[in-house]
Amino acid sequence: MKIALVTGAGRGIGREIARQLVEHGMTVFAGVRNESHAPEGTRPVLLDVTDGGQVASAAKTIGEEFGRLDILVNNAALCGDFGVAPAEVTAEHMRVTYEVCVFGVVAVTHAMIPLLRASGDARVVNMTTRLASIGLTSAADDLNAEWPMLAYNSAKSALNAITVLYANELRESGILVNAVDPGHCATDLTGHTGTRMAAEGAAVALRMATLGAGGPTGTFSSEEGPIPW
Ligand SMILES: NC(=O)c1ccc[n+]([C@@H]2O[C@H](COP(=O)([O-])OP(=O)(O)OC[C@H]3O[C@@H](n4cnc5c(N)ncnc54)[C@H](OP(=O)(O)O)[C@@H]3O)[C@@H](O)[C@H]2O)c1
Repeated sequence: MKIALVTGAGRGIGREIARQLVEHGMTVFAGVRNESHAPEGTRPVLLDVTDGGQVASAAKTIGEEFGRLDILVNNAALCGDFGVAPAEVTAEHMRVTYEVCVFGVVAVTHAMIPLLRASGDARVVNMTTRLASIGLTSAADDLNAEWPMLAYNSAKSALNAITVLYANELRESGILVNAVDPGHCATDLTGHTGTRMAAEGAAVALRMATLGAGGPTGTFSSEEGPIPW
């Protein structure tokens, strides 16, 4: 049986990813900040990704019981500068966003790497966004015009770069690391403006979480296919 961990699994797309992994018959640790929010069938684990003690304790819990982790979905995120024009964004907007979207991902991944290596066939899925694509946002049909979040978009661009660096190093351990964009989903993050349901947004993460051996690594894609970096 596969062992999975999803961060930010208490609501939105992360909750759906955790739920769908359970449907695939996996043992799923739901990383949550309130244990009562974990979806049915999952194992709640207290995991504020900015709390080093909770990150270490989550790794210890999974390690002591299973000795390995087969799937890690780095889903937890926040957007600290929604509705703030780039010129108005402060270092504090950047800090709160990067704490979760960048440093939190590295903290969790770093803590789980020994368990991912022990799997021998692990998958890491990093939830990013097409807004992180410098290729797309610098083009004429500029996504930034509609969603110009300096902190959030650039934090996800950093996460894309991090995805490639992990992918390159970890492929020798059979670990495939990919970044995915769930599309514009109706969740708290978007003020429920998205046109896709959270369950639909989860689909691309599921695909990358369940890749067969020798599958792609170091990619950035949505359900429709590759996205330019
Ligand atoms: N929705 C979209 O249209 C869209 C588009 C592109 C990419 N994405 C990405 O998809 C992922 C899920 O987004 P979503 O729309 O489902 O967001 P959401 O509904 O706002 O949920 C965010 C999740 O992150 C968790 N979280 C925030 N700060 C945390 C922390 N310090 N430690 C642990 N968990 C924390 C929240 O936990 P609490 O419940 O405890 O607050 C919540 O479970 C994110 O990575 C997002 O960037 C979403």
